[in-house]
Amino acid sequence: MAEWFDNFFSGIYAKVLPNVFSDKDTTHHVHIVKRLLRLRKGQSVLDVPCGMGRLTIPLAKMGVEMTGVDLTAPYIRRARGDAKKQGVNARFIQSDMRDIDFDAEFHAAFNWFGSFGYFSDAGNLEFCKRVFRALRPGGKFLVEAINRSWIVSHFRPAGEQTIGRVKIIQRSRLRRRSSRVETTWTFSQGKTTETHTSNMRMYTAADIRALLRIAGFREIDLFGAHRFADIKPSANPPVGRLTRHHHRIIAVATKPKGKGGRR
Ligand SMILES: C[S@@+](CC[C@H](N)C(=O)[O-])C[C@H]1O[C@@H](n2cnc3c(N)ncnc32)[C@H](O)[C@@H]1O
Repeated sequence: MAEWFDNFFSGIYAKVLPNVFSDKDTTHHVHIVKRLLRLRKGQSVLDVPCGMGRLTIPLAKMGVEMTGVDLTAPYIRRARGDAKKQGVNARFIQSDMRDIDFDAEFHAAFNWFGSFGYFSDAGNLEFCKRVFRALRPGGKFLVEAINRSWIVSHFRPAGEQTIGRVKIIQRSRLRRRSSRVETTWTFSQGKTTETHTSNMRMYTAADIRALLRIAGFREIDLFGAHRFADIKPSANPPVGRLTRHHHRIIAVATKPKGKGGRR
C-alpha cells in the first residue's frame, strides 16, 4: 500500500526544500548537530534522511565520514552531484529509513528537520531500532521531532506561505488520540498545482524518551527549540532544556557500551 511520503517529496516539494533555509541557517544547523553529537574529524556519521545532502555535504567537508540515506531518488542524485561538484567525499544511499541495515558502523546518527514520526508507532520504533543497531556502542543518535505539548496548545488548522516561488496552503487536523497531525498541503507554482496529505506523529517529552528507551538507548537528553530560526550556535547550550513551550524537541540518546549495547 502506498504511504503518504512515497509521492510527497518527489513533486513540487523538490523546489521547496532547497529554499526552506538560507545557507546561514544551514551553517547553524550543522554547528548544532556537530556540537550536540560532539562530532570529530574522521568519525563516521549517518544522516537519515539526508534530503539533498544539506547537512551531509558540509559535515563531510569538515572531515567527518558521512553517509546520507534518503527515500527520494532525485534527492540522492542531486546530493551525489553536489558532493562531486564540490570535491567532497560522501556516501549516499537511496533507501527507506526503516530498511537501513548497518551493524555497529557509525559513531553517531541524526534525523534532522521534520523527518521523524512519518510511520505508524511500530514503524517509528523500527526506525529507532535500526539506528540503534547501526551505531557503535557509545554512539549517539540525535532526533528532531514535533513537540505534542506545544502543538496541542498552539494548534492552527490553516496556514499559508510562499517558499521560493511555490505557494503553499496548509489545512491541518489534530488527532489527539493517536497524537498525529494530518495536513493537506496544496503546492502551486505557475499553472501547476499538487495536493498531498502528510500524517505525522507528535511526541511529548515522556513519549520520545519512552520510544528511545524501548529501542535500547539510554542517557537521553532533551533540548527544545522555539522555531528553526531560533537555533543559534552562539547560545550555550545551543538549544535550551526542553519545556512545553518549545515547538521542537531535539533528543540526544546514547547506545550503551557493554551488555546494553547488544540487540
Ligand atoms: C523535510 S525533509 C528533511 C531533509 C533533511 N534532513 C534536511 O534537513 O534537509 C524530509 C526528507 O525525508 C525523506 N523521506 C521521506 N520518507 C522517507 C522514508 N520513508 N525513508 C527515508 N527518507 C524519507 C524525504 O525524501 C525528504 O528528503
